[in-house]
Amino acid sequence: MKPVKVGLLGLGTVGTGVVRIVQGNQEDLSSQVGSPIIIERIAVKSADKPRSIEIDPAKLTTDPWEVIRDPEIDVIVEVMGGVETTKGYILEALERGKHIVTANKDLMALHGAEILAKAQEKQCDVFYEASVAGGIPIIRTLIEGFSSDRIVKIMGIVNGTTNYILTKMSQEGASYADVLKEAQELGYAEADPTSDVEGLDAARKMSILGTLGFRTNVELQDVSVSGISQVSKEDIQFAKRLGYEIKLLGIAESKNDEFSISVQPTMIRASHPIASVNGVYNAVYVYGEAVGETMFYGAGAGEMPTATSVVADLVAVIKNLRLGVNGLKQIVPYKQKKLTGDDH
Ligand code: NDP
Ligand code: HSE
Repeated sequence: MKPVKVGLLGLGTVGTGVVRIVQGNQEDLSSQVGSPIIIERIAVKSADKPRSIEIDPAKLTTDPWEVIRDPEIDVIVEVMGGVETTKGYILEALERGKHIVTANKDLMALHGAEILAKAQEKQCDVFYEASVAGGIPIIRTLIEGFSSDRIVKIMGIVNGTTNYILTKMSQEGASYADVLKEAQELGYAEADPTSDVEGLDAARKMSILGTLGFRTNVELQDVSVSGISQVSKEDIQFAKRLGYEIKLLGIAESKNDEFSISVQPTMIRASHPIASVNGVYNAVYVYGEAVGETMFYGAGAGEMPTATSVVADLVAVIKNLRLGVNGLKQIVPYKQKKLTGDDH
């Protein structure tokens, strides 16, 4: 069958992992989708930057529009980040009938509804598994795995950088600033790590999980947020002496037609399973009326775990392409719910 051509926007931490997996697992991936997968063009900020993988320089461009407008390209994989400009690229790609895979939670939390509506209009897929909890397939799970249930609580550690920082401060007495630098070097942190440490990244992820889990439209401003920049080594040691760990926890609850959602540093009893989620690992606890308690665990950031989710989405998109269907219709929220305590 004709190869599927992919346009990659971004070749940083995640983009590099995507290329590694697509190239390294090509045989297995092509046999799953029934054709070779070719990364045709790659948009980067600097074409001369040294890369840790070998890339044909002819594939690189510093102009994402070249990738979006390339009529040969079937699927755009967006792993460059950014919100407003990136939204413009995605909407134009959809207008041109291209399918989208993105790891961009900022974009999906702020403009997901508009992007999904455009995708529906154009009968294209938009898959965004890597946008929440890196390598944990939690988005698929909420959409498909729990479609039969009513989810009433979603709770989790959904930011790898802050969990890495809190773990090292707790276990090694390391300083906040040193560990943040380390998390940046490891490729866990956002381009501007303020969004990690101030809880905004986790808030964006919780708004996506709330939207999907409660099948309603959770806006970012519905999430009350506080980050970890004010948490000191002394706070962590004090909590430990009392038998607790401090974790940056997202908590979303839904009852009847109301929901509440927050992200904040929280003291958790050391014996609780969430307290032993350490380092860059994330965990998402989901409680459904019928299923009861479930919990999902895995690396929440980093090159290969995140790329695993991105490439799995790519495979799903190509399978849909082959079948002539698209899978996004299930993810448009359908029920109006209001924030608990908000009478307006
Ligand atoms: P990086 O900063 O490592 O990479 C960004 C890439 O995009 C770079 O290759 C950069 O080019 C390119 N780029 C940036 N701006 C432009 C532009 N204007 N035009 C063309 N290319 C551009 O980011 P990450 O890989 O860490 O993250 C990418 C996305 O994935 C973000 O949305 C992030 O939130 C999300 N994500 C990241 C995870 C992680 O663990 N890092 C996990 C889950 C999601 P150049 O290489 O030349 O600088
Ligand atoms: N900066 C994010 C984190 C990347 O640390 O969790 C994964 O979304």
